Amino acid sequence: MKEACNIHRQISAFFLPFLLLLSASATSSAAKLGQTCLADGNCDAGLHCETCLADGGIRPRCTRIRPSDPKLLGTGMAFNRYAWLTTHNSFALLGQKSRTGTPILTETNQQDSITDQLNNGVRGLMLDMYDFRNDIWLCHSFGGNCYNFTAFQPALDVLKEIQAFLEANPSEVITIFIEDYVKTPHGLTKVFTSAGLMKYWFPVSRMPKNGGNWPLLSDMINKNQRLIVFTSKSAKEASEGIAYEWRYVVENQYGNGGMKAGFCPNRAESSPMNATSRSLVLMNYFPDIPNLANACKENSAPLINMLNTCHNLSANRWPNFIAVDFYKRSDLGGASQATDDANGRLICGCSDISYCKINGSFGSCDVTPKPVDVDSQGSAEKSKTIASVGQMSREENLLWMAGLIVVFIFGRL
Ligand SMILES: *[C@@H]1O[C@H](CO)[C@@H](O)[C@H](O)[C@H]1NC(C)=O
Ligand SMILES: *[C@@H]1O[C@H](CO)[C@@H](O)[C@H](O)[C@H]1NC(C)=O
Ligand SMILES: *[C@@H]1O[C@H](CO)[C@@H](O)[C@H](O)[C@H]1NC(C)=O
Ligand SMILES: *[C@@H]1O[C@H](CO)[C@@H](O)[C@H](O)[C@H]1NC(C)=O
Repeated sequence: MKEACNIHRQISAFFLPFLLLLSASATSSAAKLGQTCLADGNCDAGLHCETCLADGGIRPRCTRIRPSDPKLLGTGMAFNRYAWLTTHNSFALLGQKSRTGTPILTETNQQDSITDQLNNGVRGLMLDMYDFRNDIWLCHSFGGNCYNFTAFQPALDVLKEIQAFLEANPSEVITIFIEDYVKTPHGLTKVFTSAGLMKYWFPVSRMPKNGGNWPLLSDMINKNQRLIVFTSKSAKEASEGIAYEWRYVVENQYGNGGMKAGFCPNRAESSPMNATSRSLVLMNYFPDIPNLANACKENSAPLINMLNTCHNLSANRWPNFIAVDFYKRSDLGGASQATDDANGRLICGCSDISYCKINGSFGSCDVTPKPVDVDSQGSAEKSKTIASVGQMSREENLLWMAGLIVVFIFGRL
């Protein structure tokens, strides 16, 4: 009983600082990047509350889940001059039930729905499509086939979410990378048509064939050609007008082979990373087996290091797509920060998009960073004090010290 009582006291003491903090934050504004939190609702827009245990974190902090919106600096550059946060296996959601009714016995790679991902600024989606039950499903393969226990849901449902987002957000551009196992003739065309997505289709004929620039982002928006679709099956470019990815994109090795520091080998299907005949660069950074616990660590400093490594080995090109598992997990800035860094380099030649000047010339960087928020409303009010990132306020420090003292005293009783 005494043991149980002690444990109970220690647990209460552990939570005391959070409770004090909660009462303090109830009267003040939402917590900023790096500040202590109790729940997602405590944090500013574009942030959520998490602890990165894998990186030695104990204190739950507000961390980023949303990259800056590069369009707020203008849309007048070629599409290959922007970087987009991309989710690997965007459809394989943690805790999701298979729509077949069978429990899912396969890996999951993300935490929230495609709609939520898009609302958080994800603009690249990796979808695995299979023939299944006289339809096309999002699935994981087991010997190249889809089974009840590896099938997530019909592709149509997710494509409809994408359609609704494009409809509601007339200046957003989305790129889909299909890992394509569909053998049904024109199966993909049918499902994209059913989802109402053909009217947004970016035609293959407008994709640069020999390393030239893509059309301007503004041009794609004005022409409503706001959906780029790549397939992994080369024959579908001629038969269905769906671009064969590696004619336009170089892509590094996925899985563990793409996570070795200092290396950035191309995946087998892709030209070498330094092949400038392909205008777009995609960087994968996730392990063979998705790992929710480690993702916060991997999506942080090692991801940024790989960004630099892949840049150096891709003919000094910054990636246009940064693909990760569990995109929301990080120890602070994560994949959102990596995307901001790539956009800073691509758009204005600065180390982070928050240093880009509006209408500034390439290479002229602001001295102090300013927020570039994806949310058009109230961005000033939501602005992050970037200078205070990762630092606790004096009040927070006092609360934590008080909490630790209480834990210490209770522990000795
Ligand atoms: C898959 O699930 C369906 C019901 O949704 C069932 O009729 C079918 O037998 C299952 N297939 C296998 C191989 O278990
Ligand atoms: C491109 O990268 C390959 C390795 O993938 C290397 O062998 C080759 O020398 C590089 N070419 C240039 C022009 O840097
Ligand atoms: C990339 O190249 C630059 C310039 O040569 C160098 O300073 C930097 O250390 C390199 N970064 C990595 C991660 O290889
Ligand atoms: C940036 O340039 C565009 C087009 O030239 C102009 O409409 C806009 O007002 C400029 N913005 C600023 C802040 O200078």
